[in-house]
Amino acid sequence: MKILITGGAGFIGSHVIRRFVNKYPDYQIYNLDKLTYAGNLENIKDIDKANNYHFLKGDIADLEYIRGIFEEHKFDGVIHLAAESHVDRSITDPLAFVTTNMVGTAVLLQVFKETWKADFKGKLFYHVSTDEVYGSLGEEGFFVEDTPYDPRSPYSSSKAGSDHLVRAWGHTYGMPIKISNCSNNYGSFQFPEKLIPLFINNIINEKPLPVYGAGVNVRDWLWVVDHASAIDVIFHKGKMGETYNIGGNNEWKNIDLIKVLCQQMDEKLGRPKGTSEKLITYVKDRAGHDMRYAIDSSKLMNELGWEPSVTFEEGLSKTIDWYLENQEWLDNITSGNYREYYSQQYINR
Ligand code: NAD
Ligand code: DAU
Repeated sequence: MKILITGGAGFIGSHVIRRFVNKYPDYQIYNLDKLTYAGNLENIKDIDKANNYHFLKGDIADLEYIRGIFEEHKFDGVIHLAAESHVDRSITDPLAFVTTNMVGTAVLLQVFKETWKADFKGKLFYHVSTDEVYGSLGEEGFFVEDTPYDPRSPYSSSKAGSDHLVRAWGHTYGMPIKISNCSNNYGSFQFPEKLIPLFINNIINEKPLPVYGAGVNVRDWLWVVDHASAIDVIFHKGKMGETYNIGGNNEWKNIDLIKVLCQQMDEKLGRPKGTSEKLITYVKDRAGHDMRYAIDSSKLMNELGWEPSVTFEEGLSKTIDWYLENQEWLDNITSGNYREYYSQQYINR
C-alpha cells in the first residue's frame, strides 16, 4: 500500500508519519510538504532513512504538481493534514488559508478521483480536521459529529470549507472518504506560536506570557501522540464515509492551564515557586475569540475502542521535558523569521 501523508513535516503530521513508518513496514509512506514556516524536516529526522519513507517537497494547491506525483506513484491512500493551522495568522492573512486549506484540498480530491476514476476498491481519502468547524460553545454542552457547522475565524471557516469539499467528493463521485475533527493538541515538535510551546519558550527565556483577554476561554487538550493513534485506528477501522470526533475529555480554562504550566516549569527549572506566574501579562483579546471548545468522542471510543493513553498532567510533564531537552530545536526556530512574526503579532498590546 502506498500512502500519501500531507503536511508530515509539521507538528501532528510528523507524529503520524513516525507512527506509520515504524508500525507498518509494509506500507510505503510518502510525505508531501511545502515546508512553509511551520514545516521542519528536523521533526522527522529519526525516521527519514527508513526504507519505507519518502519525502516529496511540493504545494497541495499546485494542480500540475499533484497530478505528476499521483501519476508516478498511484497512491492508494491519502491522509491529508497539510494546512495553514494558526488562528492568529488567519486573522492577518486569510487568503493564504483559503488557498491551502480549501483550494489545496480540492486539488487533492480531484486528482485522487482522476487517478482512480470510479474504481475506488481498497482506496481511501482521509481528511484530518478540527473541532473549530463547530463554532463556539457556551458553558454547557459538547460537540458531537452532527453538531451544525458554525465556523467563525478565517482558519476555522477554511477548514469547514475543506470538510464540505471532502464530503461533496464522497457523495457526488462515490469517493471513499473519512473525516476526523480533533480538539487542541499539545506535545513535542509543536511550533512555538501555539499557546503551550510559546509559553514554555517564554518561561525558559523569562519573557512575558501574553494571555488573551481575561484568560477565561476554554479548550479541550489532547496529547499529540494520542491524536496520531486515533488517526491510525480511524484509517484502518473507521467506517467509510463517516466522521469521528477526537478529544481528550480534558477541558481547561486558559488561565488555569497556564498556572499549572508555570508550576511545573518552576519545579523543573529549579526556580522558586511563583516565579513563572509573575510573567503572566494580560493582553488585547484575539479578534472573534471562540469561548469554549469541548469534544464528545464517545463514538470513536465506543465503536473503535480508542482512548487516550496519558492523563493531562503526564502528557504536559513529558511535553515540558521534551522542550527542555530540545532547546536547540526551539532556538533554531525562534532565531529566524519567527522573531519578525512575534514582534508584529504582539505589538501594541
Ligand atoms: P502545522 O502548522 O504544524 O503543520 C502544517 C504542515 O503543512 C507544515 O509542515 C507545512 O509546511 C505544511 N503545509 C502548509 N501549507 C502547505 C501546502 N500548501 N502544501 C503542502 N504542505 C503545506 O499544523 P498542525 O498543527 O500539525 O495541524 C495539522 C492538521 O491538523 C491541520 O490540518 C490542522 O487543521 C489539523 N488540526 C490541528 C490541531 C492542533 O491542535 N494543532 C487540532 C485539530 C486539527
Ligand atoms: O481546537 C483545535 C485547534 O486548536 C486547531 O484546529 C488549531 O490548528 C490549533 O492552532 C488550535 O487553535 P487555538 O486557537 O485554540 O490554539 P492556540 O494555541 O492558538 O490558542 C489556545 C488558547 O490560548 C486560545 O484560547 C487562545 C489563547 N492564547 C493563545 C496564544 C497563542 C493566548 O491567550 N495567548 C497566546 O499568545
